[in-house]
Amino acid sequence: MHAKKCGRLEVIAGPMFSGKTTELIRLLEREEYAGKTTVMFKPEVDNRYHERNVVTHKGASHEALVVSSGGRGLGQIEKLGKGFEVVGIDEAQFFRNGKELIRIADSLADMGKTVIVSLLNRSHLGEPFGDAPEMIARADYVRMLTAVCRKCGNDATFTQRVDQNGREIFGKLVEVEGKDSYEPRCRDCFVKPR
Ligand code: ADP
Ligand code: TMP
Ligand code: MG
Ligand code: ZN
Repeated sequence: MHAKKCGRLEVIAGPMFSGKTTELIRLLEREEYAGKTTVMFKPEVDNRYHERNVVTHKGASHEALVVSSGGRGLGQIEKLGKGFEVVGIDEAQFFRNGKELIRIADSLADMGKTVIVSLLNRSHLGEPFGDAPEMIARADYVRMLTAVCRKCGNDATFTQRVDQNGREIFGKLVEVEGKDSYEPRCRDCFVKPR
């Protein structure tokens, strides 16, 4: 028996509006109350915004280090992450080299850190988002959250991309937008691309 706490890799997954960022902030703040040192990373996916915070759809926020979604950003997570006991990463699906992010998250957890990663498990095409499946498979703990279907009120596990008239549209994988362009939908209401 040994009492030393292990590191851990936790994943928070689900569709848009399911509360992933809310949960990530909650877990990080909880660790802060426990006296742990924490850091939050967020990929910069859109050059128009350089906010310093992770922000939920409801407006709650937490200070974050915005890093590039390429190799430089991943290098910063690996280097700076070593200096904290708890490492949070929001919007992990946006890092271009998902495999490298997984390697870094795994190795930080091996060092004894709590690594909490929030990601979209599926894209608006209804398919796994990049390397999300592998991140989930390598996690010690997975929280799969659901939103409320915008159409019928059932549990939403999919995200639909819609135009201004609410019609389903399909396109490139990455399109950074909010509630005017995306709707959480249940399995029945989700429309697959043809
Ligand atoms: P995520 O990061 O998963 O997109 P956030 O944590 O940013 O989610 O936001 C969750 C918040 O979104 C909820 O607390 C709620 O206020 C809001 N929200 C808006 N539409 C919905 C919906 N259809 N189902 C659930 N929450 C919704
Ligand atoms: P959220 O999960 O915190 O709501 O943020 C998801 C972000 O991902 C949001 O900016 C929209 C974007 N997104 C894509 O780029 N492609 C997709 O297929 C989906 C579903 C979302
Ligand atoms: Mg979010
Ligand atoms: Zn529905």
